[in-house]
Amino acid sequence: MTEAAPVLSIEGLSLHVAGLPLVADVSLAIGPGEMVGLVGESGCGKSVTALSVMRLLPEPPIRIAGGHIRFGGLDLASLSQSEMCRLRGRDIGMIFQEPMTSLNPVFTVGDQIAEPLLIHRGLGRAAARRRAVELLDLVGIPHPDRTVDRFPHQLSGGQRQRAMIASAIACEPKLLIADEPTTALDVTVQAQVLDLINRLRRDMGMACLLITHDLGVVAEVCERAHVMYAGRIVEHGAVKALFASPRHRYTRALLDTIPARNQPGRRLPSIPGMVPPPGARGDGCSFAERCPAAIARCVSERPQLTVTGHGPTAACWNPAP
Ligand SMILES: Nc1ncnc2c1ncn2[C@@H]1O[C@H](COP(=O)(O)OP(=O)(O)OP(=O)(O)O)[C@@H](O)[C@H]1O
Ligand SMILES: [Mg+2]
Repeated sequence: MTEAAPVLSIEGLSLHVAGLPLVADVSLAIGPGEMVGLVGESGCGKSVTALSVMRLLPEPPIRIAGGHIRFGGLDLASLSQSEMCRLRGRDIGMIFQEPMTSLNPVFTVGDQIAEPLLIHRGLGRAAARRRAVELLDLVGIPHPDRTVDRFPHQLSGGQRQRAMIASAIACEPKLLIADEPTTALDVTVQAQVLDLINRLRRDMGMACLLITHDLGVVAEVCERAHVMYAGRIVEHGAVKALFASPRHRYTRALLDTIPARNQPGRRLPSIPGMVPPPGARGDGCSFAERCPAAIARCVSERPQLTVTGHGPTAACWNPAP
């Protein structure tokens, strides 16, 4: 990580759903201009972690049960909703997992990109519209002067995703959270959208949290990554090291599911078994029941993240050699 103070620092975050632990003791930090990956299978808790930073969790049934979310001298975990409203869209932008549910079908794309500019930047309608056209151009949408007046359903999936990115970066936030920004897109468009996010991060100096279930995506654009399993970070480190010498057996298993470069789109076997739901995660390592290398201790005692000098840090009693 860079030497500068982190833009976002999540410290020991715990979330409960109906009293059951959903996310436990999650810590991660992102420096200015840094892109950090959060990766794990479906149901691991990536989106709820991201939504807690935005304070867009459904509270209830979900509740922040502990920890801090530090951003620019504030602890977002303890802000009121009205205080959060001032930050959302202005200082923190988010690209949501489902573009169709986060773009409003009854407003034009231009209106939705202009909205944060009207609210947070005090721009007039005409100026906000001009800026919306510029932003559509910046994210690579053809004929931005026409697209600005279109409705979301009149755009392709890739264009909708770009429009959502335009809306998220309209106020040049210090932090961008991108939740599976490319999952719904085909392989070529995926690469273009990733390139775009990466370029914007560099040019605007944004810190970026990239959420994905695909370690291959992380390898493309992130320097560091955190691997999440059943609501906990099980390993983190430099992406190069995670790929070269993953320690946690779960990271290893995830690596094995990346399609080979020369066979794009080919589906490799997923990891056998399922992520245990909240309330069924036991006292030990939640991955133990699916782990080919589990030992007795894995079931009885929870491994903690330990710093082992160089290389990735993993919470595992029987790490890969
Ligand atoms: N509103 C909710 N009420 C109750 N449980 C929820 C709610 N939202 C999410 N959960 C639970 O939280 C857990 C984590 O969900 P989350 O959406 O964060 O997973 P994810 O890692 O983002 O998965 P995906 O890759 O499918 O997006 C799941 O077990 C899910 O059932
Ligand atoms: Mg998700």
